[in-house]
Amino acid sequence: MIRVIVIGPPGSGKSTQARHLAARKGATHLSVGALLRAEVEAGTDLGRRVQDTMSAGELASTDDVVEVLRQPLHDAEAAGGWVLDGVPRTTEQAARLDELLDRDDLSPAVVVALDLPEDEIRARLSRRAQTEDRADDTPEVVTHRLAVWAAEAPPLLEWYSTRGTLLTVPAIGDVDTVADRVAHAVEDAR
Ligand code: AP5
Repeated sequence: MIRVIVIGPPGSGKSTQARHLAARKGATHLSVGALLRAEVEAGTDLGRRVQDTMSAGELASTDDVVEVLRQPLHDAEAAGGWVLDGVPRTTEQAARLDELLDRDDLSPAVVVALDLPEDEIRARLSRRAQTEDRADDTPEVVTHRLAVWAAEAPPLLEWYSTRGTLLTVPAIGDVDTVADRVAHAVEDAR
């Protein structure tokens, strides 16, 4: 049973690496960004609430994030473990996530923080913009998403660092190289 959280700047490979780690460990991959995009796609109330916020590269409200996450997290726990990416992004969300996990008496998750230079982030997201249609991958919105991360990251990283659960992993290199790095870091921490 693994419980891992993957955080990091936009475009650092959170979803890619969370998906790889979940596949290696037989766990469920949960991406909050993907869950929110599915709500937008389905035209639910929550999707309508977050649509413009996401297109602008702003953060959805913590209540909406908890709402979209609660049931999938519960299901993933029952299915034998999870790798969660994209949450928390703020210390407010970290506190709410701790509450959610504590309530179900789940042991604290290991937190993998991916670290990638901004020029490589921009290169990856501009490549993705040519193949996928994400409203938030324009250069202007990417700049804003990076600024949001830069503002929120220091207290968030501090939050997990003081709890001793933070593993910082360089995300430069090809997908398999980074996946090996992440898997070794998680193994060593267990
Ligand atoms: P989200 O979907 O989580 O977007 P993000 O954080 O901006 O991250 P990305 O999905 O762009 O990148 P990633 O780090 O997952 O990297 P990926 O693996 O895709 O969130 C979108 C929006 O939803 C937010 O802006 C916000 O509005 C809202 N939201 C989400 N969570 C929220 C929360 N907790 N609170 C409030 N609001 C929230 O890789 C990126 C690209 O690089 C891909 O094309 C990939 O193929 C490629 N790539 C990956 N690894 C490599 C590699 N090693 N080498 C080369 N290319 C690579």
